[in-house]
Amino acid sequence: MNITNICCIGAGYVGGPTMAVIAEKCPNIKITVVDLNETRIANWNDEDVNNIPIYEPGLNEIVARTRGKNLFFSTDVDKAIDESQLIFISVNTPTKTYGTGKGMAADLKHIELCARQIAKVAKNNKIVVEKSTLPVRTAEALKSILDNTGNGVQFQILSNPEFLAEGTAIQDLLNPDRVLIGGETSPEGQKAIEALVDVYANWVPRERILKTNVWSSELSKLTANAFLAQRVSSINAMSELCEKTEANINEVAKAIGMDSRIGSKFLKASVGFGGSCFQKDILNLVYISKAFGLNEVADYWEQVIIMNDHQKRRFSKNIVQTLYNTVSGKKITFLGWAFKKDTNDTRESAAIYVADDLINEQAYIALFDPKVSQKQVLSDLDYLETRTASENEKHITSYENPYEACKNAHAVAILTEWDEFKDYDWQKIYDSMLKPAFVFDGRNLLDAEKMKSIGFVYQSIGS
Ligand code: NAI
Repeated sequence: MNITNICCIGAGYVGGPTMAVIAEKCPNIKITVVDLNETRIANWNDEDVNNIPIYEPGLNEIVARTRGKNLFFSTDVDKAIDESQLIFISVNTPTKTYGTGKGMAADLKHIELCARQIAKVAKNNKIVVEKSTLPVRTAEALKSILDNTGNGVQFQILSNPEFLAEGTAIQDLLNPDRVLIGGETSPEGQKAIEALVDVYANWVPRERILKTNVWSSELSKLTANAFLAQRVSSINAMSELCEKTEANINEVAKAIGMDSRIGSKFLKASVGFGGSCFQKDILNLVYISKAFGLNEVADYWEQVIIMNDHQKRRFSKNIVQTLYNTVSGKKITFLGWAFKKDTNDTRESAAIYVADDLINEQAYIALFDPKVSQKQVLSDLDYLETRTASENEKHITSYENPYEACKNAHAVAILTEWDEFKDYDWQKIYDSMLKPAFVFDGRNLLDAEKMKSIGFVYQSIGS
């Protein structure tokens, strides 16, 4: 099948960048990204490409080149479904906040709504692609909904999980380590797989496009995220031991990373991982394992989350202890709120939990993040429901200027590894702070010797 029209349901951190890159690489395919969220779509269509709702290096340039040519953003979901031969489902699949599996299982209500809408609208055969991260065997549920429409339309369901990392999404999409496509083994299933392979083959070498059965593909995404998160929790566990033994986690990471069996990536100790995926996907894996009675498997992976929570907690605890066991009424400056550098995404960011702990201790937080608005910060804190919105507002203030944010602070805490923080005039910051001036570097970003020579009491993770 020659694909000429693609629709993507969900204009978020995955749907937006992924479709922009497909549009750029496949000028003969018309791509429409649809979303129920009108504001989000309006922002994607903003005349000034710098105002698109997602910050990713290189994304706005691609949108500028493709939007209005073969890339469109719309709220007309039905029209886009009707026009397309291939439909990506890229909606959010957060952890359930109610009912059975609350706090663990993936909430599939958005996925089901998409399936029902496709079933309602489709008048001819379609390939439906799971782009969202889904529990293993979700395709079965999708198929059951789609096959019971009674209008004779044939659907093929593919699993094509997305492995991009926020902050490097465009590079990851342009040059992926692999593209994974799972489908049915039937001739129709194989034909659908080939149709999607042909789309990616416009820029991805065919040997990097893996074909598997649907269940392997679905489970591979959960497995990849579990392994990645586990590396972070493993190095973070060792960081605590380093702090007790005068070993240095950066030296340990370098030493083990040079072992080619281990590899050097993803070995950076920090205040803990965040982001919308790692925690939710591992909880989902734990839930699925438990559902099959695999309690040891479930407990093994749950420990990754337990370690991560501990790492965030002990960071805030250490700030309180170091500041003479009280931060009540003290100004503490956060540099960074996003869950990592080069993104404006704040979901599950470690900063949120550290701030929540410190506000419980009655601290006043001054914040600077180059890409995150005060509105977002407050909404992240309010979401925790620890205290009233007005109390949160009283205890945290965003600044436009990092030097202003640091003025008269008792301590600065680095929560995100934005490159620009390294280049700040730290002498100027030191001069403007109360003494002793503390820096808690949750990302091991700054040069320890330089900071100490300026006069800071400087603490990082794992040394
Ligand atoms: P997101 O929350 O940024 O975007 C999802 C969008 O779907 C929202 O704009 C929402 O309004 C829209 N939506 C929900 N239900 C809808 C419906 N019925 N009709 C139309 N639009 C609807 O989520 P994000 O981060 O893009 O994640 C999407 C999926 O991709 C998730 O399953 C996630 O696990 C997975 N994923 C995310 C990655 C990331 O780095 N954010 C990386 C790889 C996979």
